[in-house]
Amino acid sequence: MPFPIQELFIFDNTHKLTNHLLKLWLKAAEEAIQARGCFMVALPGGKTPIEFFSKLAGVGDMDLWNRVQVFQTDERFVTPDSSESNYRIQKECLLDFLSIPQGNVHPFVTEAKDVLQAAALSQKHMMEFFQKIGVAPYFDLVILGLGEDGHTASLFPDYLPDEIKKDLVCAVEDPRVKHKRISLTFSAINSASQVGFLVTGRQKADIVKKMLEDHIDVPAGRVHPRLGKINYFLDKDAAQKLTAPKNFEHDGDAVFWRIT
Ligand code: 6PG
Repeated sequence: MPFPIQELFIFDNTHKLTNHLLKLWLKAAEEAIQARGCFMVALPGGKTPIEFFSKLAGVGDMDLWNRVQVFQTDERFVTPDSSESNYRIQKECLLDFLSIPQGNVHPFVTEAKDVLQAAALSQKHMMEFFQKIGVAPYFDLVILGLGEDGHTASLFPDYLPDEIKKDLVCAVEDPRVKHKRISLTFSAINSASQVGFLVTGRQKADIVKKMLEDHIDVPAGRVHPRLGKINYFLDKDAAQKLTAPKNFEHDGDAVFWRIT
């Protein structure tokens, strides 16, 4: 069987999409906790995941949250109280509602002398965390957004620093991008057992078609979890330019098909 398995799910609206993603998140968490006693998950930035965060915030199971380790896929090099901070959105829409131990939340460092130091300190923290529990760094689930230019996390087209091949965390100083960034590298993302792309809105329809049907080379298309699975969760606006194959199926609220 070719890896990664890639499955695409299209939903009528974001309400049905986020309900499905919540079920997947809870299933992945249960399986990881049963297998290894904890669930390593990385959450995306941007605005798309806000609806999902608000639903996840309703999961009140303390036993669960004691076993969940929350990381970020990327962050802007701004203070945590900035309106541009991904951590601020994650905190206000999700983390503040959870009974999750503070030591289980691992935001990237953004208060450092520069973005290079911020990325280095973030990488150091992540390595120390995994070394303390005696495992190589991995994620059970990484949820990603998709930019209209095909970026994901903070890995942008034509700006792929060398570190992304070997390190876990890299600094991104792309003059075309509003903020300097700290991002998981492809190496870190591809250590995941599951990756879920969360893409909604008609403004993403072009890039979705270019990436999934035309196979244009964009950073999001380079996410390739070695032994894992990629799910694309789209609403019908984001999927409107895709040509559904004849072998699509219905799965509850979704139309879905396996890409590979
Ligand atoms: C960020 C994100 C970025 C985001 C995409 C989609 O910091 O902005 O990590 O990769 O996921 O740009 O953003 P929206 O969800 O706001 O469209």
